[in-house]
Amino acid sequence: MQNQVKRLRYFNIFLDSIEQKDDDLITAFGHHVHWGYWKSTSLANNSVDDFRKAAEELSCQMSTAAGVADNQSVLDVGCGFGGTIASINERFKQMNLVGVNIDDRQIARARQQVKAAETNQVEFVEADACKLPFADASFDVVLAVECIFHFPSRELFFKEARRVLRPGGRLTICDFIPVDMLMPGLGILDFFMGDFLTQTYGQSNLRYNYSLSDYEKLAQKTGFLLSQQRDITVNTLPSYEITRQLMRKATPPGIGAEIDNLVNQAMEWVSRQGLLRYMIFSFQIA
Ligand SMILES: C[S@@+](CC[C@H](N)C(=O)[O-])C[C@H]1O[C@@H](n2cnc3c(N)ncnc32)[C@H](O)[C@@H]1O
Repeated sequence: MQNQVKRLRYFNIFLDSIEQKDDDLITAFGHHVHWGYWKSTSLANNSVDDFRKAAEELSCQMSTAAGVADNQSVLDVGCGFGGTIASINERFKQMNLVGVNIDDRQIARARQQVKAAETNQVEFVEADACKLPFADASFDVVLAVECIFHFPSRELFFKEARRVLRPGGRLTICDFIPVDMLMPGLGILDFFMGDFLTQTYGQSNLRYNYSLSDYEKLAQKTGFLLSQQRDITVNTLPSYEITRQLMRKATPPGIGAEIDNLVNQAMEWVSRQGLLRYMIFSFQIA
């Protein structure tokens, strides 16, 4: 189980494909490992290059929501291959940028790919989001891009984020938020398929999904105020088709690949029905 948490199965698939020099996979997931953001989805063309640009745009939307600006210290928790740190490194000056991830293989790739721009400092640290190895009040911004559902506890992560943020600092996350009426269905799915889904997606076990009211309560409990929320579901929808194609190509055929495909289709369907929302949330220190 410990290994499933640190070394998520879908990252094993990505790392194998990267090693085998699968160009499409490297373009799509070699930097960012998250959904894309399309300002106008009618312009999405289902190509790998289009998805790469949309994934970069999601990182830009996140740093804008977080108020990232020159001269800041930014911590990106669950940083994957360092794509969001790279994006901020390219666009801002006098930055102290730190990426944290629990998987040493991802940290190694991030270190190899992302070199500090002239006026910036960049560091990647192997650690758990719920046990951050940093002093109190050491960052202006904490980000968690499409990863909080994997963490052992949202509450412990929020407490850690609150601890390492300076006064006036901001925590910005993005997450899949089911509407309340979807919760019983998720519980049933979890009961029957929870073990399989945990193998593939680690802690994204569906029972950990959080509703909007859960986030509001969590913010209050951990010393934050929810200062901004954006529903960007519509802007992310073209991600499903292209990721299905890429995963189908990268995953060895078998029951696992079929279930991955079904999960992706089900997520697209509930998202299109408005039952699962892709949200960006920003929290300020209360
Ligand atoms: C969907 S990926 C997102 C990666 C990155 N944020 C991005 O947007 O490219 C989820 C990430 O969360 C990381 N992760 C999972 N559990 C973690 C934990 N307890 N502490 C730190 N990172 C974790 C995974 O290793 C993976 O890199």
